[in-house]
Amino acid sequence: MINRRKFLKNSSIFGIAPFLPNYNIFKSMNKKIRTAHIGVGGMGKADLNDIASHKKAQIVALCDVDNKALVEAGKLFPEAKLFKDYRVMLKNIHDEIDAVIVSTPDHTHAPASIMAMELNKHVYCQKPLTHHVSEARAMKKLAEEKNLVTQMGIQVHSFYDYKLATLLIKSGIIGKVDKVRAWCPKNWGYDGPEPSGNDPIPNYLDWNLWLGTSKERPFKDKIYHPGMWRKLVDFGCGTLGDMGVHIFDTPYNALDLDVPYTIKNKCRKPNNFGFPEKNYVEYVFPGTKYTTDTLTWIWEDGKDSPKKHKDLKLPNGDKLPLQGAMFMGEKGKLLLPHFMELPKLIVDNEYKDFDVSKFVDNGELSEIPVRDYGKESHLHYHQFIDTCLGEDECTAPFSYSSRLTETILLGVIAGRFPGKTLHWDSLKAKFKEEEANKYLDSTYRKF
Ligand SMILES: NC(=O)c1ccc[n+]([C@@H]2O[C@H](COP(=O)([O-])OP(=O)(O)OC[C@H]3O[C@@H](n4cnc5c(N)ncnc54)[C@H](O)[C@@H]3O)[C@@H](O)[C@H]2O)c1
Repeated sequence: MINRRKFLKNSSIFGIAPFLPNYNIFKSMNKKIRTAHIGVGGMGKADLNDIASHKKAQIVALCDVDNKALVEAGKLFPEAKLFKDYRVMLKNIHDEIDAVIVSTPDHTHAPASIMAMELNKHVYCQKPLTHHVSEARAMKKLAEEKNLVTQMGIQVHSFYDYKLATLLIKSGIIGKVDKVRAWCPKNWGYDGPEPSGNDPIPNYLDWNLWLGTSKERPFKDKIYHPGMWRKLVDFGCGTLGDMGVHIFDTPYNALDLDVPYTIKNKCRKPNNFGFPEKNYVEYVFPGTKYTTDTLTWIWEDGKDSPKKHKDLKLPNGDKLPLQGAMFMGEKGKLLLPHFMELPKLIVDNEYKDFDVSKFVDNGELSEIPVRDYGKESHLHYHQFIDTCLGEDECTAPFSYSSRLTETILLGVIAGRFPGKTLHWDSLKAKFKEEEANKYLDSTYRKF
């Protein structure tokens, strides 16, 4: 695979004029990046504000199927055009837009992003990149074919502590890593029965558009919108898809992992409605330069996670952070709390100091941890806008984030087969276990 910067470099070596959209045109004309935002309630509102805080971003359109969220966001950007159907917005005003920000529930990420990319728009899409593995692959392919700027919404990827942990692991501070344990006691699962009956659809919500490509079903208050959809198999990806993408991002990046060989999820039996409220997922990955021959990754979520384990013992009997990851290496362990805390190096059950000056000298890290969400949250978004302007390079483009998402989604699918080891063939994009393959894709409803 070749990224844009390398492609440009190689092309100039051979004297070939690269056939690429001319991002620098934005620079030379001092033009702004005109953005359209799909989903502006919940996280979408934060995304909107973080993008708008870049002085070269211009918010031109807002879209939400919930009129209350749309009106709220519209008050902040009175010049923006308002829409409730992203298809109408993209069709009607695509020539007024350079980039699209997708902050809807997971099942709408791919349909909206793919339509935007088909129209040659750069895309910032929230995590997990998609609801299905096939969609993640399609998004990556399309972004590459069209050479678009892309970024997945894992903003902590650009935070000091996460960058430091990545650099420490890559520097070999704990030697080759053979295992990562990660945990999150949140519960974005639902073990109860599917609710029956229906509630009146609120007059501010377009339920048909909210359902989008997913199958038709009656509206139930407080079950789907807002936010609760992430517990349900038709719309979200459970706790692993929600928090796992953030917490697994640093190990994935630092260890240069690709997709796994095998996946096993110990959880309750599937009920086809809600995700299990507790999951214990074990992945085995092919080895890389930074790992032993294989790498085992263990994820635990739900109430009281993680279970006590010697790998997770801290010096001085310290309490584990509520959420985080522990890298287990030949020479020690590295604890990375989630989030806004320094990683901690542990050798022979004692904390050890480490020197960050060489990363600072190399220009890979700023000297001082920011440790202020308000001050760091915009970095990832600004990187996207700057990349659209030809002045930076996104660090979580779809070429990276589609593989991370695929990995996460394989663990979600393994939850359909509790306790069974599934074998993933990345080249064929299929499981050896035929019965699991139907969960890689879904049929889109016409709406
Ligand atoms: N990166 C992070 O830290 C972070 C944090 C929270 C959520 N998220 C992600 O952000 C996304 C949204 O999550 P949320 O918690 O804000 O959900 P939410 O349900 O609270 O908000 C989603 C918004 O999208 C709107 N929407 C739904 N379908 C739409 C459609 N077809 N077209 C336009 N608008 C539509 C809803 O009306 C609502 O305003 C998810 O992918 C989630 O994983 C990321």
